[in-house]
Amino acid sequence: MKESTTSSLQARFVTESQSEMTELVLPNDTNPLSHLLGGRLMQFIDLVAAMAAYRHARAHVVTASMEHIDFIAPVHVGDLVILKASVNRAFRTSMEVGVKAWVENAIAGTRHHIASAYLTFVAIDANGRRVPVPPVVTEGGEEARRYEDAGFRRQRREQEKERKRQNRAAYETAVKGAT
Ligand SMILES: CC(C)(COP(=O)(O)OP(=O)(O)OC[C@H]1O[C@@H](n2cnc3c(N)ncnc32)[C@H](O)[C@@H]1OP(=O)(O)O)[C@@H](O)C(=O)NCCC(=O)NCCS
Repeated sequence: MKESTTSSLQARFVTESQSEMTELVLPNDTNPLSHLLGGRLMQFIDLVAAMAAYRHARAHVVTASMEHIDFIAPVHVGDLVILKASVNRAFRTSMEVGVKAWVENAIAGTRHHIASAYLTFVAIDANGRRVPVPPVVTEGGEEARRYEDAGFRRQRREQEKERKRQNRAAYETAVKGAT
């Protein structure tokens, strides 16, 4: 069982905020081939992820980023899209949420995985100021693996931010030197 130490708030189990959503794919959601639009699927993913983050933080949340989204197979009009979201890890004011989506053909009685994504949400108060979020408590297995992986992804994002900062600084120095 793992618990982050970044907050004095009461820690919450992953299962307390897990969220699920089911959508019927209608013609308005599709392209001329009657396949679900990628942007519409991203909207479903953002919504179900926001529900989990909102439940975990018990505060307003905004999407800071959506990363690593794979669209594995097309979804057709008339299919059901089932989405499940879990808070993988909470940091100081941000949380990583993982979403997995499946398509179900109710007539054929089949279900398969179509997409996965990781999103980061930041908790804010009514004035838009960032607020701390409670730590996540995992109960082993997949939850513990996702918790660890979320830490690696955050590390990678921070390294990338630092690399961009250094590139910008080097560019500004070069421009100043040339004038
Ligand atoms: C997301 C937002 C609140 C971050 O504010 P900020 O002043 O840049 O904050 P900071 O850089 O100090 O980071 C605050 C937290 O957000 C995280 N964060 C910021 N940008 C991030 C990004 N692109 N990806 C992942 N995490 C991010 C930081 O790691 C930090 O987490 P921590 O408190 O847990 O350590 C701000 O950029 C914002 O309001 N964006 C618009 C959100 C919105 O409208 N979303 C809807 C999309 S249309």
